[in-house]
Amino acid sequence: MNKTRILILYYSMYGNTFQMAQSLAEGISEIPEAEAQLRQVPDLLPEKIILENEGVRKAKEMQKDVPVATLDDLRNCDGLILGAPTRYGNMCGQMRNFLDQTGSLWQEGALVGKPAGLFTSTATMHGGQETTLISMSFTLLHHGMLIVGVPYTTPELISTTTGGTPYGASHVAGMGLAPLSAAEKEICRVLGKRVAEIARKLSPSPSSSPL
Ligand SMILES: Cc1cc2nc3c(=O)[nH]c(=O)nc-3n(C[C@H](O)[C@H](O)[C@H](O)COP(=O)(O)O)c2cc1C
Repeated sequence: MNKTRILILYYSMYGNTFQMAQSLAEGISEIPEAEAQLRQVPDLLPEKIILENEGVRKAKEMQKDVPVATLDDLRNCDGLILGAPTRYGNMCGQMRNFLDQTGSLWQEGALVGKPAGLFTSTATMHGGQETTLISMSFTLLHHGMLIVGVPYTTPELISTTTGGTPYGASHVAGMGLAPLSAAEKEICRVLGKRVAEIARKLSPSPSSSPL
């Protein structure tokens, strides 16, 4: 049986967004017919900055086994979860740069009708999580994707004192790398599972195949 492919496409400089990607993958794995594909977008940081910053070096080590994304990963997915750390209230340049190379996919309509969720990490509580998540959705809407949020039937969305929004999953990391709170982790799990469930429902059933 062909599994429903959920692409978790992200960038992470210090490792926080990567931790979120792992929790999202756990949620996806709860749907037996779905599989998570973790991919990082190419970095644009000069080598000098990577070498001089211990936190960045450690994050690179953490992510060394995650393949770098190609346009075909996007073309072939059944659902997408897009994650980027906040930069001045917006997505990071690495993600913007990758998305700006998707013109051919837009022309093909390759992403039309596929579900997509969003996630982000910030240093500060009010440092732009919602603006980042919402502005990331603009590109996906241009691609014809169906934006999947986090419903308020998720109890942690009401009780959280850290990250977590109806627009997508989020993490308040402080300066550097910090573990996800229990609520942030749960909201990631819920979003991963939800995108996988919806993608599964929207994907053509293998049993309806003429073969
Ligand atoms: C250039 C730059 C701009 C940033 N802008 C913001 C911001 O507007 N608000 C905020 O809370 N954090 C901001 N941050 C902090 C990162 O969003 C935060 O460290 C995030 O957790 C990093 O995620 P990562 O560990 O996945 O790289 C900024 C960081 C950098 C390097």
